[in-house]
Amino acid sequence: MAFEPIFQPLQFRNLTIKNRILRSNISGRFDNYDGSGNQARINWETKFARGGVGAIISSFVPVHLRGRIVPNYAMIDHDRHIPFWRAVGRAVHEHDCKFILQLSHGGRQRDINGIEYPVGLSSTSEADPLHGFKCEAMTIPQIQETVAQFAEGARRAREAGLDGVELHGANGYLITQFLSSAINDRDDEYGGSLQNRARFVLEVVRAIRARVGSDFHLQMKISAREFDDALALFGRGPSGNTLEESIQVCQWLVEAGVDAIHVSSGSFFPHPRNPAGADLPVEDLAKSYDTMISSGERTFANFLLFSGVSGQFARRQWNRAAGPPEEIEGKNLADARAIKKAVTVPIICTGGFQTASVIVKALQAGDCDAVSIARPLVANNDLVEVFRSGRDRAEKPCTYCNKCLVNVVENPLGCYDESRFPSREAMVAQIMSVFEPSAFPAEMAVL
Ligand SMILES: Cc1cc2nc3c(=O)[nH]c(=O)nc-3n(C[C@H](O)[C@H](O)[C@H](O)COP(=O)(O)O)c2cc1C
Ligand code: SF4
Repeated sequence: MAFEPIFQPLQFRNLTIKNRILRSNISGRFDNYDGSGNQARINWETKFARGGVGAIISSFVPVHLRGRIVPNYAMIDHDRHIPFWRAVGRAVHEHDCKFILQLSHGGRQRDINGIEYPVGLSSTSEADPLHGFKCEAMTIPQIQETVAQFAEGARRAREAGLDGVELHGANGYLITQFLSSAINDRDDEYGGSLQNRARFVLEVVRAIRARVGSDFHLQMKISAREFDDALALFGRGPSGNTLEESIQVCQWLVEAGVDAIHVSSGSFFPHPRNPAGADLPVEDLAKSYDTMISSGERTFANFLLFSGVSGQFARRQWNRAAGPPEEIEGKNLADARAIKKAVTVPIICTGGFQTASVIVKALQAGDCDAVSIARPLVANNDLVEVFRSGRDRAEKPCTYCNKCLVNVVENPLGCYDESRFPSREAMVAQIMSVFEPSAFPAEMAVL
């Protein structure tokens, strides 16, 4: 079979998946405000399971309400959510696809804080630099409570019959806020040296292992390099953790009981390198960013920046930091290769993958053991089947335009690149298909 390495099963310590492609973490605001889930989320995940991926890694699932980044994302902060996640798992399992839930806490990095907790928690009391969300530095009891919340989240995922959990330790959320030399400004045992900065996540791993045992899959998504100064206007600021520091953290994580590493980059989200785009779609950004205007201390100024002529300045700055479009596919591969050499567990690499021959080359070179894909699967839910049929790329590949990304705070998630569709109506129909089937009982519909 063409591209055969993609279709080799991958064995983790506690989990086997049927091929080397995982759906990377991505979802829209399909769920309910209170963190309960609904049929649209089940429909969303089923699209990718049906399309042939070996496993789905969920989007950001908060372990506590204060760690939520945006309302209408399903949570795992209470036992009442277990039946919903069980239903998601069952729907996905019907297609011989595994489901890994991303245990997450946003800390100070949020998009819309919602009504319950206007002030976030963090390693620091400095607001996040992108949107200016306020936060307070966590006390030791707050750290202990949060560690326990992660462990409870893992226990609930296991009880729901899911196949594993991933710690969201990348992209600027709470775990990064502790790990990062550019963010963590503490002078207690959770700040300063790398060992101290890694203390929080290692405590989380040990607490999870104590709660769920050693035979449940646990992986960690990490930003191998942080590029914290990617948008620095004048000179360079601190760039955050280096690859060497991240390699050391990965070794500690594996010693503590982590079964796989998922390699990403960037100390905030979105970041010019993640998801790396061909061009920042400022016009679309200005249209959806108004949803966030009153949320953070910098959001109104950002809105003005994205609107009008200054939008072109923002676009140039972002594009320069993102690097050339031809380097999007496999952007984190060099980092994945370096981490793979240093640890004994499988490595999953994220970032731009959508060409079978590129994926095969990465697998054969031993740069990684699997790839995770988000946007190209949003564009082509059946990408794995495309590869299986012997085609190297989808007929209409993802253009990395990032319009899906900038729409997600306001609109349902889907592919927003009109040029990929025969008409605007066809694009909207694809986006709205996530609401089919509806869970509303058919007999009610005729009343
Ligand atoms: C709209 C959108 C939402 C995302 N949400 C998450 C998330 O909840 N958790 C996460 O770890 N990564 C998230 N990501 C990052 C993706 O999982 C992925 O790592 C990144 O987009 C690079 O892969 P790609 O080039 O295949 O899209 C998101 C990306 C997009 C575009
Ligand atoms: S809007 Fe569509 S083409 Fe553009 S990045 Fe998202 S999935 Fe890809």
